[in-house]
This record gives sequence, C-alpha cells and structure tokens, in this order.
Amino acid sequence: MGLRPSGAPAIMTTPTPAQTQPARGLHVITWGCQMNVYDSARMGDVLRPLGYQPVDAPDNADMIILNTCHIRDRAAEKVFSELGRLRLVKEARKACGQNTIIAVAGCVAQAEGQEILARAPYVDIVLGPQTYHRLPEMVARAARAGGAVIETDFPAEQKFDFLPDTQAPQTPGNYTAFLTIQEGCDKFCSFCVVPYTRGAESSRNVTSVLAEARRMAASGVRDISLLGQNVNAYHGEGPDGTIWNLAKLAYALAEIPGLSRIRYTTSHPRDMDGALIAAHRDLPQLMPFLHLPVQSGSDRILRAMNRGHTADEYRDIVRRLREARPDMALSSDFIVGHPGETDEDFEATMQLVRDIGFALAYSFKYSPRPGTPAAGAGMQVPEDVKDARLQALQHLLRTQQDAFNATLVGRSVPVLFTSRGRKPGQITGRSPWLQPIHVTGPESLIGQELCVHVTERLTNSLGGVLEERKVYA
Ligand code: 5AD
Ligand code: SF4
Repeated sequence: MGLRPSGAPAIMTTPTPAQTQPARGLHVITWGCQMNVYDSARMGDVLRPLGYQPVDAPDNADMIILNTCHIRDRAAEKVFSELGRLRLVKEARKACGQNTIIAVAGCVAQAEGQEILARAPYVDIVLGPQTYHRLPEMVARAARAGGAVIETDFPAEQKFDFLPDTQAPQTPGNYTAFLTIQEGCDKFCSFCVVPYTRGAESSRNVTSVLAEARRMAASGVRDISLLGQNVNAYHGEGPDGTIWNLAKLAYALAEIPGLSRIRYTTSHPRDMDGALIAAHRDLPQLMPFLHLPVQSGSDRILRAMNRGHTADEYRDIVRRLREARPDMALSSDFIVGHPGETDEDFEATMQLVRDIGFALAYSFKYSPRPGTPAAGAGMQVPEDVKDARLQALQHLLRTQQDAFNATLVGRSVPVLFTSRGRKPGQITGRSPWLQPIHVTGPESLIGQELCVHVTERLTNSLGGVLEERKVYA
C-alpha cells in the first residue's frame, strides 16, 4: 500500500535552523507521504557526520535535497518547475563563489532519473529510495568530480542495515515519532507506481527496530507510528533467527516502558491476519484506529485493480477488528474512475462506505501513472464523470467523519499533549483516533497523557476541558 500523502497537496517540510552557524548548510524539501518525511530525516542523519546541518532557506544551503513523491498526477512537472527555481539559487551562490550540490531523491528520482539529468544538467545527484545510505559517498563523488552522480539501482544489500541510528526523534519535545520498519511492495495494484519505484518488499530486522523504538521512548516519545508501504506484511528477522510478523513485533514493542501508543501504516487488507487482529484485542497500546485502504467497493473493480480481495472480505476483516476492539475506527483510501468503473461499480463503493462508516478517508480521482497496467487499459473514465463521483463520495465521507467526531462529544478521551495550541493559554494533543484536541491548560502538561472531557466538535478537531485524572496513573 502506498503511504497516504499527508493531506491533499504535497506537504513541504523544512528542518529547523541550526542553533549555531553550521559548517555546511543542508536544506531538504520534502513532498509526499510520511515515509518521505522519515527518509528526509534519515538523509539528514547520514549527512551529519560530513558536517551538514539543517538550514531553513535554500540560499544558505551548500546542499539542497528535493525529496519527491510520484504517487499521483504531474509529479515530474512539479519537480522540473521546482528545479528551475533551485537553479537560480545555485547560480546566485556561484556568483558569490559558493558551491551548491543539488540532489533529487524519492520516487520521481527513481522513475525519471535519466530524464532529470538530461533536462536539468545542473542537478548533481539523483538517488532512489533504496540508496540513501550511499548519500555521503555520492556527495563526496559529486564534490570531487563536479559531474552528476546517478544512483537508482536497487542494491543487493539492505538499505536498513547501513543507516545510522536516527538522531532526529531524540530531540527533546518530540512525543510522537515515525519508525520505518518495512519498505517496498510486491502487490502490483493496477494503478500504482510503488512496486516500480520502491522496489520489492523488504523488512528491517527486529533487533534494530526494537533498538530504535527503545531510543525513541527513552528520549520521550510516547506515540510511535510504524511505517511501511505494506507495513502489515512485515516479516523481519528476529533475534532468534526466525521470521517475526507484525503481530509478534507489536507484542515486543508493547513491552517498552513509556511507549503508550503504537500505530502502523499503511496496511493491506490481504495481510490483515488473525494474529494481528488478536494483537488488537490483547494490547491496549495498539491504537484503535487503523488506516486500511480499500480503494473500491466493487468486486469487479477490485479484481481489475489486482487487489486480491473482495468487498465482503473487507467487510469481514472490519467486523473481526471491531469484535476484537470495539472502539476500533477505520480510515481508508478510495480511487474513483479506475478504468472500467461503471455507475453500478461506483454505487457499490458508496454502499461499502455506508456499511462500514469511516472515521476518516482520503479519496482520489484515478490518474494514469505511466508504466502501470491501468494506464494502458481501455475504458478510461471521462474526467467529468470522475469529478461527479469524487464529489459524491467525498460528501458522504465528510458526513461520516463529522458523525464520528460528534460521537466523542460528551465523552472522556485520553489525550497525549504534544504542543501549544493556536490560541494563547491553550495546549493541543491527539486522541487515540488522531483527532487534534484543544484545551485550556499550562504548557507544563505537554508530553503528558491526560483525560479530557470533550465538549465540542470543531471542523477538523475537538475542544474539551482537562479532567483531573492521568491516563496511566
Ligand atoms: N490514481 C489515483 N490515486 C492513486 N493512489 C495511488 N495511485 C493512484 C493513482 N494512480 C492513491 C491510492 C493509495 C493512495 C496512497 O494514493 O488510494 O492508497
Ligand atoms: Fe499499495 Fe497496491 Fe501500491 Fe502496493 S501496489 S503500494 S499494495 S496500492
């Protein structure tokens, strides 16, 4: 499963400026999903020993990394237009005698490496998601040669084995963190580029996952999200030499003191096995909120998409999850207008949505990705039909999201406070279902998990008042 991009437009993150004047400035522009955000942090980690420190503007950067996302439309054009801007920065710095290394990373780099070097020869490094651990070597080579370096092969060695320990989440004040445990995908859904850009499925070994999780917990992280394109297909080598699945890993993570919330994303319905469902029953730390993309409610389209399950099988998984954990809420991804989708197929999707009741969902118009089977398929759906279906679906999903949020009003909810609120005197945290919740309270409570009596539903968040009791007193 491709990781859901965080919000409809690609997000851009910039590392916080260094406290002191850095020896070398590094500016990372991140587009796309949480996996990319995590990868950007790790690229920062591998470059730190070379003296690179984050700076907040490209003009101050000796190296600029554009970490790209390819999951949906027009990614390549966006990259070239951003590169056009970065070229001006590079030229302006050169006029002042300063060199700037420009690197393009992520899925667009993987898919269009040669094209990037042909169209933007001022780019120094192109690297695919499997080769970040080689970044220092590439930087050294680029600096020496002045020529472009391209590195998008899937190497035989495991990328995970070469990355240093993450530094970023150890910054005090991070109470939530992402931890990549699995990458790649062998499922080849008809519409998706991930198997071509992120390569075959591979899992990080258990010892290194647990070590990183322990370090995160020791630095104050309470809420950890395990990441992977097919995270519930996790099959990492355990310390005992056997292969551990995600359920087994979750039991071990739940033993780590301080980690009170464990999540994982993104899952595939086909890998939602009985052991994992049982873990939801047994482990209070496993949050009752699961992103489980279904894409369509029509068996015909699910087959065309090569999803490997039916709509009823999805309904059954959700039923078993709710049996195991009655407060389980579901989030999902949908695509409307996949080639061949009729009005009847679309109605089956609407029916599935009505049957399940989603707390949150992301829905997209199908957009052909070059090289994927669906892109060349006949019976492409006209744009205006896709628009109308998307609107109808989003309206229904929005109603369900509001209804779900409304169910929390009047209830007591455990909230992990993570930051100051938008209004003075307020602090903000997240519920087990990831809604932001605002209360009036002192900043000293940030980092604590406390019960909140929810009093109101706001557009995408909730308001409440602090209760006296701690969650795990
Ligand atoms: N067109 C539209 N949506 C897509 N997604 C992935 N590929 C495409 C595409 N070609 C959506 C899927 C996936 C999410 C991350 O992005 O719903 O789950
Ligand atoms: Fe997810 Fe299918 Fe893409 Fe794999 S091929 S990442 S399962 S959408």
